Amino acid sequence: MNNRSLVTIEDYSKEKMLEMIEKAGHFEVHPNSRALEGKIVATLFFEPSTRTRLSFETAANRLGARVIGFADPKATSSSKGETLKDTIKMVSNYADIIVMRHYLEGAARYASEVTHVPIVNAGDGANQHPSQTMLDLYSIYKTQGTLENLNIFLVGDLKYGRTVHSLLMAMRHFHPTFHFIAPEELKMPEEYKVYCRQQNIRYIEHTDFTEETIADADILYMTRVQRERFTDLMEYERVKNVYILRNRMLEHTRPNLRILHPLPRVNEIAYDVDDNPKAYYFQQAQNGLYAREAILCDVLGILNSSEHER
Ligand code: CP
Repeated sequence: MNNRSLVTIEDYSKEKMLEMIEKAGHFEVHPNSRALEGKIVATLFFEPSTRTRLSFETAANRLGARVIGFADPKATSSSKGETLKDTIKMVSNYADIIVMRHYLEGAARYASEVTHVPIVNAGDGANQHPSQTMLDLYSIYKTQGTLENLNIFLVGDLKYGRTVHSLLMAMRHFHPTFHFIAPEELKMPEEYKVYCRQQNIRYIEHTDFTEETIADADILYMTRVQRERFTDLMEYERVKNVYILRNRMLEHTRPNLRILHPLPRVNEIAYDVDDNPKAYYFQQAQNGLYAREAILCDVLGILNSSEHER
């Protein structure tokens, strides 16, 4: 793998995460610069996306880079049978960095092994979503003033949810207590629970999602039940609306509680929550722009972006 790729959140040490949070804070104040002038950023999205692709592309544009890529693989030669390896090698002839989302777990790792161009994993199947994790960490830090010793409740699809898998791994440095709230069919996979035990991360599992369960939450991280990950659609129908956060459930929650969601939401957060000051998911998505500006600069080895501010 080329060294600068961001394939998994485990590519970042604790110090690196804190440095990237600081950089995201810088870009929130100074979003526009010429730091990436002359660079070409390729965004290859083999799966649908709104936030990740558009915020990476906005980040590239705000930093003076140019963007090539696709949002619909059906319009590319992969629909004629071109392999991922050949696609990556081709795009490597054109771009300085490749941001890629793919439906296969491990696709980003594989891509990083067949090219010298840095790869940023924008989500690979149910595996990892490290740039989402960086914006999640930035959002948690901004709203809580710390990443340390927080009660973090992960709710919904913990089986296929790559955002919760990445977040759990990132938080190993910060002494969290996790609460996993999921129906039996969507429980946190055993491999991540083993990981928690190995890393001394406390976790408690629940199937109930009630006002009482979430009373001492600092972060309530809601997730969508992802229809596209189910092979059995009957199973999806059974679990799709199992947990719905409603405004009245927040009445006795902690004042510092913030509700996060990687988005898109379907039914899992009722619209009456949106106006609650504890709802933070739209600001969280905005933070994605700043976190991704920091990632693009870092991956491309731009150390001092402030020299290029405009
Ligand atoms: N959070 C996230 O990955 O959103 P998109 O699927 O819209 O990119």
